[in-house]
Amino acid sequence: GAPIEVDLSPIAEGQDIKVFWRGKPIYISHRTKKQIDEARAVNVASLPDPQSDEARVKSGHEQWLVVIGICTHLGCIPIAHEGSYDGFFCPCHGSQYDSSGRIRQGPAPANLPVPPYQFVSDTKIQIG
Ligand code: FES
Repeated sequence: GAPIEVDLSPIAEGQDIKVFWRGKPIYISHRTKKQIDEARAVNVASLPDPQSDEARVKSGHEQWLVVIGICTHLGCIPIAHEGSYDGFFCPCHGSQYDSSGRIRQGPAPANLPVPPYQFVSDTKIQIG
């Protein structure tokens, strides 16, 4: 599949969009300061799949989270803005992901993966 470009300017703070890349759903979240602060306040060593929020977003663009929206348990599509961690909730077996897309509770073994992407301008990314 070819890379895709996504214009971020229509996505208001606190909103998410879903796009498709190589047939996979990709969530792009415009995080609020509260969501960023929550993601960064966590003790990384305590996480099931320890990864810092800083490692999952681009420096200078911390408000943007880009993740592959496929649950790492059995492949359902989690719902954005649901669950107890201000992130994503998988309705199939109850996995809860936080505002960094990291698994926090439930049967999923790993964080939602971050696809390869880069900022081509302040308001546009290229995925792939
Ligand atoms: Fe998401 Fe099982 S597929 S919790």
